[in-house]
Amino acid sequence: MSAEGGGTGYRMWGGRFEGRLDPRVARFLASLPVDVRLLPHDLRGSLAHARMLTARGIIPEDAGREIIAGLRGMIAEADAGAFPVDETAEDVHTLIEAELHRRIGEGAGWLHVARSRNDQVATAFRLWVKASAAAAAAAVTEVQEILLQRAAAEGELLLPAYTHLQRAQPALLGHHLLAYVWMLQRDVERLRRAYEAADVLPLGSGAAVGVSHPIDREAVARLLGFARISANSLDATGDRDFAVEFLAALALLMTHLSRWAGEVVLWSTQEFGFVELTDAISTGSSLMPQKRNPDPAELIRAKAGRVLGHLVALLATLKGLPPGYGLDLQEDKAPVFDAADAALGSLQAMGVVAREIRFRPERLWEALTAGFVTATEISDHLARRGLPFRQAHHLAGQVVRYAERQGKALGDLAPEEWATLLPGLQRADADGLAGAVTPEGAVAAKDVPGGTAPGRVKEALEAARGVVAAAQQWVREVEGARQRTEEALRASP
Ligand code: ARG
Repeated sequence: MSAEGGGTGYRMWGGRFEGRLDPRVARFLASLPVDVRLLPHDLRGSLAHARMLTARGIIPEDAGREIIAGLRGMIAEADAGAFPVDETAEDVHTLIEAELHRRIGEGAGWLHVARSRNDQVATAFRLWVKASAAAAAAAVTEVQEILLQRAAAEGELLLPAYTHLQRAQPALLGHHLLAYVWMLQRDVERLRRAYEAADVLPLGSGAAVGVSHPIDREAVARLLGFARISANSLDATGDRDFAVEFLAALALLMTHLSRWAGEVVLWSTQEFGFVELTDAISTGSSLMPQKRNPDPAELIRAKAGRVLGHLVALLATLKGLPPGYGLDLQEDKAPVFDAADAALGSLQAMGVVAREIRFRPERLWEALTAGFVTATEISDHLARRGLPFRQAHHLAGQVVRYAERQGKALGDLAPEEWATLLPGLQRADADGLAGAVTPEGAVAAKDVPGGTAPGRVKEALEAARGVVAAAQQWVREVEGARQRTEEALRASP
C-alpha cells in the first residue's frame, strides 16, 4: 500500500507529513481486502454525491460532468466484475478516488468536497446491509415455502411431540413442520426491521460535525433510495446500531436453523430413525463404509456459533467508544460480511435438507405406540366427566403403571381392564376413552387455536401461507424500489 492512501502514485493525504508511514503499519491499517465488497455501493454513494454537488453548483460543472461520467463507467465495470482493483490502495474509498483520478485526471479531486470517508463508509455499509437483509429475508421465505409444501403433502402423519426429549404427546407432522415456519417468520420480521434500521442516510455528516457547503441531503437520500436522513452528524458517523441489529437478526436466525439442524441430526440416528437422509444431503465416512453422516445439518448447527461470535465481537468493538468515528469502526465489516455469508449458505443448505429428507412413517408410528404418549388423554377424559384433574391425573398414572407392568400399550387394554382400573367408569365413557387414547383421538382433541387437531393445523397452514406470501411481497417491493432507484441514479444528469 502506498503511504498516502490511494494506491500507486495517488496522494489523498500527506500534506502535513514529512516522513512516511511505516509499510508494516500501512499494511496493518489497510482494509481493502475486506471492504472491497462495498465497491458497488461506495461507487453509487459517490455518484449520488457528485450529482448533488454538481446540481447545487458546489463544484465546477465540467469537473462534475467528468466525475459523473467516470463513476458511471466504473459502476458498469464493477457490476460486470471487471473493475481494476489496485491491491495497494488503503481502502475501497481511496481505491475509487485514485481510479477516478487515473481516468479523468485532476478533476477527480473535486469528488471529496463536502464529505469524509467517515460519512462515506457509513453510507456504503448501510446500502450493503439493506441489500443483504432483503436477500436474507428472501432466502428465509424460500425455506419456509419448502416446509409449507412438506406440511401440505405429509402433514397428516403422526409422531410424538417431545418435551425434555421424552415422548410427550401425539402431534401431526404438519404441526411440527409449521413450528419452524413460524420460528423463521419472526426471523423474516427481524430482518425487515434490520433493513429499516439501515435505511437512514448518514452522508452529509462530514467527518463529525456536518459540512460547510450548501449540500442537499434529502436529494442524496432520494438518489440512493434511503427512507430518511440522519439527525445528528456525530451520532451518524459513529452509529453502527444497524449493523448490530442485522447481526442480531442473523444470530437468532442461525440459532433457529441450528435447533432444526440438531433435530435432523438426532432424527437421522439409528436410535431415532424418524428420517432418512438421501444421498444429496449426507456424506460417507472415509473409514467406515456403512456410515451416512448428516454433514450439512452438523455444519449448519456449528455456523450458528460462528455468527453468534460475530455479534458479540461487534458489540465488544462498539462498547466504550465515544460518539463519532474512530478506526475501531473499521472492524465492523468483517463480522457482518462473514455472518451474512454463513447465514445465506446455511439457508441454502437447509432448503435442500428440507426438500430431500425422507420421513419414515413406520418409525414415527412405533414411537407413538410405545411410549404411553396418550396417557394425558385419560386424565383429560376423566376431568371432562367431572373428576377433579388432580385425581384424574393420579388414576391415569396408575393406568400407565399397570400397562407398563403388563407390557401393553394403552390402546391394547381390554374393556375389563379399564373397568378394573377406573371403577365407576360408565360403559359409554369406557368406549369414549378407548377412542381418546388412540393417537388420532389425542390429536383430534387438541382443537384449540394453535393446537395440533387436524382442522387447526389446516387453518394454521393457510395462515402461514399468508404471512410467507406477504413477506415475499415485501421482498419484491424492496427489489422494485431498488431497481427504480438504480435507474434514476444511473440516468442523466
Ligand atoms: N476504511 C475505513 C473504514 O472501513 C474508512 C474510513 C476511514 N476514515 C479515516 N478517517 N481513516 O471504516
